[in-house]
Amino acid sequence: MNFKKQMFGFMDMLRFKKLVPNRQAALAKGSAAPLPKEYRTNVLARQLHPGVMQVKLTAKRQLTPDMVELTFCRVDGDAFPFFRAGQYVSIQHNVNGSLVSRPYSIVSSPRDALANKLVLGVVAAGFFSNYLVNEAQPGEQFTMTEPSGEFHYETLRDKSHIVCIAGGSGITPFLSMAKSMQEGDEPYQITLFYGARDEAHIAFRPELDALAQHGLRVVYVLSDEQKTGYEHGFITAALMEKYVDIRNVSFFLCGPKAMYEFVNKELAPYLLPVKAVHKDATCCQDLQLDSPRTFQLTVHVRSDVYTIPARENETLLVAMERAAIPAPNKCRAGGCGYCHSKWLSGEFQVAEGRDGRREADRKFGFIHPCVTYPLSDMEIDVPPTEA
Ligand code: FES
Repeated sequence: MNFKKQMFGFMDMLRFKKLVPNRQAALAKGSAAPLPKEYRTNVLARQLHPGVMQVKLTAKRQLTPDMVELTFCRVDGDAFPFFRAGQYVSIQHNVNGSLVSRPYSIVSSPRDALANKLVLGVVAAGFFSNYLVNEAQPGEQFTMTEPSGEFHYETLRDKSHIVCIAGGSGITPFLSMAKSMQEGDEPYQITLFYGARDEAHIAFRPELDALAQHGLRVVYVLSDEQKTGYEHGFITAALMEKYVDIRNVSFFLCGPKAMYEFVNKELAPYLLPVKAVHKDATCCQDLQLDSPRTFQLTVHVRSDVYTIPARENETLLVAMERAAIPAPNKCRAGGCGYCHSKWLSGEFQVAEGRDGRREADRKFGFIHPCVTYPLSDMEIDVPPTEA
């Protein structure tokens, strides 16, 4: 017993004495080449998530009396990141001294992105959209965020037959979804109900007709015009029943708030589960107030401090943009959390149905300036924007 203990102790000592020379020999056998500065995973992550990109407007095409198609490429010549059809990008620009931005659904397909091409459809409604429609010219450069958003198909959640309901410019994400289906990147079948005022306000008609040759079913619904080949009126449940089995599809809606409310009422009797109806988020708008007050908003961005006017009917984000303060934002609808900022003092209200903050954020005083309106003088701390 004692002899065994002594033997093991001796062997351990021997191994210990050889530890350093063995290690030195192993190191000497290794490659002298320096470790790579970047691994393939890092390269892929950067391609998929470039953060913000500098882009150039390469073409502009009139689609309807008030809607244009804008085509962009990346200034650095790289491909746009691959995305999920239905997602959006946010464009940012300095217009007459104001730093403005707005999210737009992508019209082109994820495969187009790999060829350094990204297409948007913009309707003249709002300060920045009016600028894009009426003034922006090919050659002009903009800042664009990477594609984002939850408005896309999910195999585990959604039925294989999806019903897309578009109102006006809300057609844009469905073009991308239909192209992605045609290119074999999505597994669903689409029936598209496209509501427009009249035939002249139907955008992307040639593209939709071409996609209809490859499996897309389109039902055009005109509210103000009666014409052969078109449904007339609104997109009611009775109309949808003519084309689809409402209980056996997933719905994707993109259009004005009034359309969401109308379709919600139409679908209510079917008692569909919440997950069966997806709505694309719309930007938070100005409040309709008779005589809005103006308060003082103090904004901290790192060590910089700005004091600016903030109107009661405008979000804090709009007030900052008007004063050319760089404030991060993407969805402008309270959902992405990208504008997440620290509240320091003052009264405020959050737009109805837009409070996307987590419980902890509410508890520890964080706000989303894109959906927050001031009710008194306020002070907030905003994170710096990406370079
Ligand atoms: S920009 Fe998305 S939550 Fe404010």
